[in-house]
Amino acid sequence: MTLRTLIFALALVPLAAHADDLRHDALAASLAPIDAASALKAVKGNDVTPAKIELGQKLFFDPRLSKSQLISCASCHNLSLGGADTGSTSVGHGWQKGPRRAPTVLNAVFNSAQFWDGRAEDLKAQAKGPIQAAVEMSNTPAAVEATLRSMPGYVKDFDAAFPHEAQPVTFDNMAKAIEAFEATLVTPGARFDKFLAGDDAALNDSEKKGLRLFLDKGCASCHSGPNIGGAAYFSFGVAKAPSEELRPIADKGRSAVTKSASDDFVFRAAPLRNVALRAPYFHTGKVWSLDEAVNLMAVHQLGTTLSPEETREIVAFLGSLNGEAPKVAYPTLPPRASETPRPQY
Ligand code: HEC
Ligand code: HEC
Repeated sequence: MTLRTLIFALALVPLAAHADDLRHDALAASLAPIDAASALKAVKGNDVTPAKIELGQKLFFDPRLSKSQLISCASCHNLSLGGADTGSTSVGHGWQKGPRRAPTVLNAVFNSAQFWDGRAEDLKAQAKGPIQAAVEMSNTPAAVEATLRSMPGYVKDFDAAFPHEAQPVTFDNMAKAIEAFEATLVTPGARFDKFLAGDDAALNDSEKKGLRLFLDKGCASCHSGPNIGGAAYFSFGVAKAPSEELRPIADKGRSAVTKSASDDFVFRAAPLRNVALRAPYFHTGKVWSLDEAVNLMAVHQLGTTLSPEETREIVAFLGSLNGEAPKVAYPTLPPRASETPRPQY
């Protein structure tokens, strides 16, 4: 070994040790990597088969599940826009505005429950909500079943996805097929995951500093698990109540689910994978910059303020959570038949 390589090697020792500590602390804080196989395993009570995934993909893109036949899941969960839509809150049936920001469907399978308030226990329970919500797709289970049963192409697809069932075309099976498809909407390969797997060079210095701050300031105590959030509920405003614009008094969050006043203004800690790709932020969608969202978290959840440099580093770290978007082909949907119900505006 020449003197130069020796000096070089010695200089690397503290850096490598530092990366090992950081990785160790991140894993100890329950930050965890994701992959396609663990997503399929996260689905409970529903065998994910290729036939179900293919059917679910069609249903996800089919606007005929809505009363107007104009609105599909993909209208508000646009896979080309990080799995969400562009507004603060979503626009649904009859141009009505809903009360909350659309969360992304990407990696939703890793959340411990669905919706900002966790009121659906899993994706199959969740999928039945928007189809019936008056401000979203405004339809009924019976009308959806009639529409699907009217199209021979769908009858064939449901038969293949739910073999040996006397009547495969049901609202429940529709939801199971959508869940199976959503379990494929994951974004593995984030540089953060590569770092967790042992690749020290996957994060640059400023991202590493950001991760250290994310751990040491306490962000990771709420945003943890494979989705870096989406796992537990906390008051939005632990340290200081957010403004009425950010947290309107009318939306009490989780207390509407648990019927317990102690859950007033409690929300699920937002999942942070790909967060840099899908402004605006918070359940009201009122914050358009990630820097500002991070600063607000420090003030309202931790009772502290961040220096501009700290904010920059945390935001740099959050950028390392961007993964590879799933490759989803636009499906050709079964053609309508003469008895298929007509759109109703
Ligand atoms: C009109 C817009 C709109 C349509 C159409 C729509 N959604 Fe949503 N979606 C939302 C909004 C808004 C929320 C959050 C509501 C809440 O938390 O109360 C949401 C929440 C979700 C979630 C929960 C994600 C999370 O992190 O908790 C999933 C999954 C989802 N929708 C899937 C679907 C599927 C599947 C369909 C089609 C059957 C669909 N959505 C149709 C707007 C929409
Ligand atoms: C006490 C728990 C808690 C702590 C600590 C916390 N958060 Fe949050 N975070 C939440 C909750 C709850 C939400 C959802 C708030 C809402 O209802 O919109 C959230 C939302 C967010 C969002 C918005 C994501 C989106 O998709 O809209 C970002 C970004 C965020 N947190 C980052 C951070 C960072 C960075 C830190 C550390 C500086 C941090 N959080 C600390 C609980 C916490």
